[in-house]
Amino acid sequence: RCRADKRVQPDMGAVKNVCVVGAGHVGAPHAAVLAQKCPDIKVTVCDHDERKVAQWNSSLLPFYEPSMQEVIEDVRGVNLFFSTDFASAIKAADMIMVSVSTPLKTEGTGAGYAPNLMCVERVARLIAESADGPKIIVERSTVPVKSADIIKRVLRFNNAHPMVVLSNPEFARQGSAMIDQSSPERIMVGGEDSAEAKAATAALVEIYARWVPRERIITSGLWSAELSKLTANAFLAQRISSINAISALCERTGADVDEVSFAVGVDSRIGRKYLTASVGFGGACYETHIRNLIYLCRSFRLPQVADYWQHVLTLNDYQKRRFASTVVASMFNTVSGKKLAVWGVAYKKNTDDTRDSPAFDVCKALLNERAQLCIYDPRVSSEATALGLCLADGQETLVECVSDAYDAAAGAHAILVLTEWDEFARLDFFRIFSQMEKPAFVFDGRNMLDHAALRAIGFNVIGIGKPVTPSPTVAKKKIDAVSAVGSLSQLHSLGD
Ligand SMILES: NC(=O)c1ccc[n+]([C@@H]2O[C@H](COP(=O)([O-])OP(=O)(O)OC[C@H]3O[C@@H](n4cnc5c(N)ncnc54)[C@H](O)[C@@H]3O)[C@@H](O)[C@H]2O)c1
Repeated sequence: RCRADKRVQPDMGAVKNVCVVGAGHVGAPHAAVLAQKCPDIKVTVCDHDERKVAQWNSSLLPFYEPSMQEVIEDVRGVNLFFSTDFASAIKAADMIMVSVSTPLKTEGTGAGYAPNLMCVERVARLIAESADGPKIIVERSTVPVKSADIIKRVLRFNNAHPMVVLSNPEFARQGSAMIDQSSPERIMVGGEDSAEAKAATAALVEIYARWVPRERIITSGLWSAELSKLTANAFLAQRISSINAISALCERTGADVDEVSFAVGVDSRIGRKYLTASVGFGGACYETHIRNLIYLCRSFRLPQVADYWQHVLTLNDYQKRRFASTVVASMFNTVSGKKLAVWGVAYKKNTDDTRDSPAFDVCKALLNERAQLCIYDPRVSSEATALGLCLADGQETLVECVSDAYDAAAGAHAILVLTEWDEFARLDFFRIFSQMEKPAFVFDGRNMLDHAALRAIGFNVIGIGKPVTPSPTVAKKKIDAVSAVGSLSQLHSLGD
C-alpha cells in the first residue's frame, strides 16, 4: 500500500491545465465554455471512445446542442483539445474533472436502481496509474452520496501523491446547456473539512468566478453536494408527476389543467415553472437519479422515503400508458393498420437525445396494437429512432421515418405530438388537415398546439388534462379568429 506524502501539497492556487474525462453531454459543453471563459487554461477532454473523439475533432459533432458548434469551433485547437491519450493529459493536468457515465446497474445487487460506478472507478484507477504529482479531482458525474470515498480510496491505495476530491455537480439542462454553462443559476462545490480541500475548493471557485457572480457559487460539504444533484432532479421530476396526476383528474372532471396550473403557479411559494402537463418526463437523468435516490434510501433503511420517490416513477409510467390508451380508445378502439404520424421522439425540444424518451414508450405501446407509425423529428436520425424503439421481430415494416412533418401526416389518421419542437406550432394545419384521413385526430402530448383553432379547422383534438369539449366562449373566439385570418400559422404570427 502506498501512502500519500503529506509534505508535498498540490499548488491549489494556480490551475493552468484541466483534464476533463468523458466527452459526453456534460463533459464537452462544460469544457468548451471553460476554455472560452478562461483562455489561459488549457482544457483537454479525454474519452475512451475513439470514434467520439474523432467526431469532436471534426465538423460533425457527436450530438446537437444549440450554439455548441460555434463555441467549440472558436476554441478547439486554441486551448480546447479532444484526445484519447489519458496518460499525457492526466500527467499535465492540475485539475481532473470526471464527467463519465453512471448508468443503472443491469445485473446483480441493486439492479435497476443502483448506479454502475464502474466508469468512475476506472477513471480513478487511470488517474492513480498516470498521475506523477498532486491533483485536484472534481467529481462532475452524478453519483450517490459517499461516492467520492471510492475515488479517494482507489487513489490512496494506488498512488503516493496527495490528491483532493471535490464534488461539483452539473445542473445545466440539455437543450440549453451552453446558456446554462455561460450563465448558471448556481454552481455548487463541495469538499471535505480539511485545509487541502478548502484550498482546492478555493481554486475551483476562482475558476468559476471568472464568469459566474460569486453570490451564485455555493460551497458546501462533500456529501451535501453529492446529494443536492439527486435531490434537485427528484424535485423537478416530482413536479411533473404532480401536475400529470392532476391532468388525469382534469380529464375526468372537465377541468382544464392549464387553467389549474396557472392558478396554482402564480402563488409565489409554488412558482409557475415546471408545471406543464405532458406525456411524461424522460432523458438520461430523472428516472435514473430517482432510482439512485430510492436505492440510497433503501440502503439506509428508509423504506417510507424510498416508496415516496417510487411513486413519482409509477405516475410517470402511468401517464405514458394512459396517453397510448387514450389514442387507441379515441380511434374507435383500434389503430391496427392505421397510419399515425409521430411528431418528435427526442425526450424534449432542442436536443437530439432520445435516452428514456417517453415517445418511445408510447410508440412501443402503439406498435403492439399494430399501428403503422410514420415518425418525424427535426433532429433525431432514423438510426437513433430504430435503436430507441428496439423493434421486435416483424415490427420493422410498421415503422417509417421521414424528414418532414407534412410527409408524416399525409394520409395519416392521427398526429401524435410527443416532443414540443417549436416548429410544430408554426405548420399549416389547413394543408395538413386536407391531406389526412377523416376523422383527423390530433393527440397533443405536450399541450403545445392551439386546440380551439385546430378544432375550428375540423380536427378532433385530444390534449393532456384538457376537457374534450372546450368552453363555448373560448372556442367561438378562436373559430372567429381563424375565419378572419384564414390560416392557423397566420394566426400564430399575429401573436394569438
Ligand atoms: N446529460 C445530462 O443532462 C446530465 C446532467 C447532469 C448530470 N449528468 C450526469 O453526468 C454524467 C455524464 O452524463 P452524460 O449525459 O454526459 O453521459 P454521456 O453518455 O453523454 O457521456 C459520458 C461519456 O463518458 C465516456 N466514458 C465512460 N467511461 C469512460 C472512461 N472510463 N474513460 C473515459 N471516458 C469514459 C463515454 O464514452 C461518454 O462519452 C452522468 O453521471 C450523468 O448522470 C448528466
